[in-house]
Amino acid sequence: MGCTPEAFLQVLSAPRTHLYHRNFCYENSTLLLPDKWRRERGCRYSLLGRSSTKNFNRIFAHLRVDVMSFKKKQTYSLEGLTCKCGRSESVSAAADEDEKRTWINGTAIDSDISKFELAQQLKNENGAVFSNIDLGTPGAINSKLNGVSDSFEDEAWDLLRASMVYYCGNPIGTIAANDPNDSSISNYDQVFIRDFVPSGLAFLLKGEYDIVRSFILHTLQLQSWEKTMDCHSPGQGLMPASFKVRTVPLEGDDSATEDVLDPDFGEAAIGRVAPVDSGLWWIILLRAYGKCSGDRSVQERVDVQTGIKMILKLCLADGFDMFPTLLVTDGSCMIDRRMGIHGHPLEIQALFYSALLSAREMLAPEDGSTDLITALNNRLVALPFHIREYYWTDMKKLNEIYRYKTEEYSYDAVNKFNIYPDQIPPWLVEWMPNKGGYLIGNLQPAHMDFRFFSLGNLWSIISSLATNEQSHAILDLIEAKWAELVADMPLKICYPALEGEEWRIVTGSDPKNTPWSYHNGGSWPTLLWQLTVACIKMNRPGIAENAVKIAERRLPRDKWPEYYDTKRGRFIGKQARLFQTWSIAGYLVAKLLLAKPEAANILVNIEDTELVNAFSCMLSANPRRKRSRMGVKKSYII
Ligand code: GLC
Repeated sequence: MGCTPEAFLQVLSAPRTHLYHRNFCYENSTLLLPDKWRRERGCRYSLLGRSSTKNFNRIFAHLRVDVMSFKKKQTYSLEGLTCKCGRSESVSAAADEDEKRTWINGTAIDSDISKFELAQQLKNENGAVFSNIDLGTPGAINSKLNGVSDSFEDEAWDLLRASMVYYCGNPIGTIAANDPNDSSISNYDQVFIRDFVPSGLAFLLKGEYDIVRSFILHTLQLQSWEKTMDCHSPGQGLMPASFKVRTVPLEGDDSATEDVLDPDFGEAAIGRVAPVDSGLWWIILLRAYGKCSGDRSVQERVDVQTGIKMILKLCLADGFDMFPTLLVTDGSCMIDRRMGIHGHPLEIQALFYSALLSAREMLAPEDGSTDLITALNNRLVALPFHIREYYWTDMKKLNEIYRYKTEEYSYDAVNKFNIYPDQIPPWLVEWMPNKGGYLIGNLQPAHMDFRFFSLGNLWSIISSLATNEQSHAILDLIEAKWAELVADMPLKICYPALEGEEWRIVTGSDPKNTPWSYHNGGSWPTLLWQLTVACIKMNRPGIAENAVKIAERRLPRDKWPEYYDTKRGRFIGKQARLFQTWSIAGYLVAKLLLAKPEAANILVNIEDTELVNAFSCMLSANPRRKRSRMGVKKSYII
């Protein structure tokens, strides 16, 4: 591996310039925004509370005659000069009913509910087959299973389409859960950024690109919203956790309505957590859209380029941190309530790395961006070093930690974070397989969170944050610990659960996060798609295939729950929503990718050799890197 100082510098350095003006406004909006909103959007910084600035927190898409006259579809019934919208979800209901009618086994079905009921009947007939199936048995049974699973896929597609949300007549996302019998909707009727990712991928893989394009561009518009909580505004690049399409009466005209997008940046979310992962997912989906559709024009747009940079700027901002990992609060990702994942949780680091690599691929070279690109490249070198080196654990590493000396004050300490060996939890001593390993959940001074977090580990494989060897070892561990991590429903969100006093302190006695439930060791079928991508990348799709077979046994029969409870994932989760969209979409994406593994490329990040070179240069310059004053020769007059 050749490494010249020039090559190293080329990867890392660039002149410093200022990238942004604080009052930046988008100028290339193509959305249906009246001029006055376009002018005000993203340019307001106010110290007032939400109520007095409420109007600026919304996009009003006035459905004017001139706009509507371009719409050929019967999505709206036009009355006089204005367009009347129904509820966002029911906009589709106003669509041509014939278009919505589907045929299942020769029967025309009108409503989504009856579609579901019929699909259930079909499935129950098939259920008899299932109850006697040994899923490990190949051959005839598997071919029967394939037929059955086709009908599951059809049902999943019907349900996914039924969850679509429309804005001004066009699909813009999917709601989190779509259970017609659930009265406690909470915010599950919103479009979550992270939840839409598998939906978007399913549509992309099916060749339906418009909904994803529309989602990307509309959420981009939301990014520049003013977001305020109790007079405080977070960084401008923050993407919302979710948004809702509201249909409200048009001001001054009771007979007409307008669609309004209403984002939640955490100001309304339980616990008021900023969704750090949203922007990272947005970048990942944007890249997948370009790669899958071949349409690079979206990522090349000036407003999209600016959106990417705003996210990066927020993530790469200088802080007090000694680590290259992103410092976040508890609950800033899929685990969106207190679970002891504040600090530098693996999930965020893996998504961060993937987003950095994806952004690097998409950013157009431009004079004003050199500073940002330098920061990005620096991080791309330092982040994998840190994670691979300090988060990795296997039998060998565990034994090293067991023999650690503590209180080492020096630049070349072995136990840099002062981990006391007693911190090794008793369960891990038994649990760690001889073959295999994983990246721990979090690292802080004198604290290693040894829990196994699935999404972080899977996404470390997908993004190449983990080395090739580590990636295989993670899959080895999943195989070795199948009975605990997959068991009756893939996949445990984390292992093991927090119990007793630890549960009380860490979760704040959260009754939703009791041991082996929800985020605290619950099983989440949506993780199937990420398992599938990781397995395909490592050329071990068989692991994902087995997991999908297990999920298929129950998911449709159980009405696609959000999560499962108990150690083996035997029960539908205590408070799990049914018809949870990302459980449905996750299953579909897994199936689509297993049928066409090369499509996983739209998500995978391949290790960049330039970075690896820079990385090994850094290593050879270390560990006793002399400290310099960054090349500045200054004399101080005292
Ligand atoms: C739960 C999940 C979160 C998801 C939301 C909507 O709160 O933890 O990740 O986005 O439900 O489905």
